[in-house]
Amino acid sequence: MHDGSGRIEVRQLSKNFGSVRAVANLSFTVAPGSVTGFLGPNGAGKTTTLRMILGLVTPSEGTATINGMPHDKLGNPARVVGSVLENEGFHPKRTARNHLKVYAAAIGVPDRRVEEVLAAVGLTEAGDRHAGGFSLGMRQRLALATALLGDPQVLVLDEPANGLDPEGIAWLRSFLRDFAKQGRTVLVSSHLLAEVEQTIDQVVIISHGQTMYYGQLADLRNAQRPRVLVLPSDHDALSTALREEQITEIEPADDGRLAVMNTSARLVGDIALRAGVAIYGLEERHADLENLFFQLTSGQYTAAPPQQLGVPPQHPQDKGNTGWGGQR
Ligand SMILES: Nc1ncnc2c1ncn2[C@@H]1O[C@H](COP(=O)(O)OP(=O)(O)OP(=O)(O)O)[C@@H](O)[C@H]1O
Ligand SMILES: [Mg+2]
Repeated sequence: MHDGSGRIEVRQLSKNFGSVRAVANLSFTVAPGSVTGFLGPNGAGKTTTLRMILGLVTPSEGTATINGMPHDKLGNPARVVGSVLENEGFHPKRTARNHLKVYAAAIGVPDRRVEEVLAAVGLTEAGDRHAGGFSLGMRQRLALATALLGDPQVLVLDEPANGLDPEGIAWLRSFLRDFAKQGRTVLVSSHLLAEVEQTIDQVVIISHGQTMYYGQLADLRNAQRPRVLVLPSDHDALSTALREEQITEIEPADDGRLAVMNTSARLVGDIALRAGVAIYGLEERHADLENLFFQLTSGQYTAAPPQQLGVPPQHPQDKGNTGWGGQR
């Protein structure tokens, strides 16, 4: 049983590759007992950050530690942290079972552990097949089995859902949640929020190497206010009627509709009826995380000052933008 000490701490971490600033001043903590999503679009710096945590890339500035120590001071690191990175290679002629036996010997764990990890990832039956003939999803499972050999406290996975079918993704989700429930630590990257949304508790969203949001996924979701999109016959008359009812957050949407915050479609419809304003369209929008993720990571924010950690930015650019969770 683990004592829950597998904390990952990233402090003001930066990495330059020549003139490319791949990671810029990143700070976050991954606590044991939770699954943390590490999200950002292609080229955001996810793999580079994970490789720095795993001691495979030397930071230009800052530190990344596990249990308060850099990876190269961990002693037998495979016992502390297991990882799956992009493009893990396997000897194609080696069976899955043999591949795991070779690794087990290298990190000093007994052969019976091989059977345990094969079972844990659902590869027991396929264990004597050559890894070269494995599908992408099976290779992902074998990579995960390899990461689990040392019974680590911490798992660091780079885009583990790549190549998995929907059943595989559902399986991975429950596997990672169970792993975290045992008091262990999971850091998992993805460029798709939807892919990991149901798996993660905490989220670090980066764009161009910088933190755009760091905090609980639930807080991010709750920070988005419901809004009603309405197409009235008379914009001014409806706005006036809404304001008389203390509904004051009204903005024009790009498509000619009015966006009304913190209300319901029913209330807007009733107020319009009383004011004698015809309604040609009425739609209620709730939290749309994917849209928020897109706005947080799209290029327009690269020149914006870094956002305060843990607080989703509100109306980052005041250009008639109707706020979060708005139009697609
Ligand atoms: N070894 C390297 N040499 C030069 N540039 C690199 C190197 N590794 C990464 N980069 C650059 O650093 C930036 C971040 O790359 P990184 O692979 O960390 O992004 P990522 O978020 O993992 O992207 P993806 O979603 O495509 O996997 C990119 O601009 C990339 O070209
Ligand atoms: Mg990557």
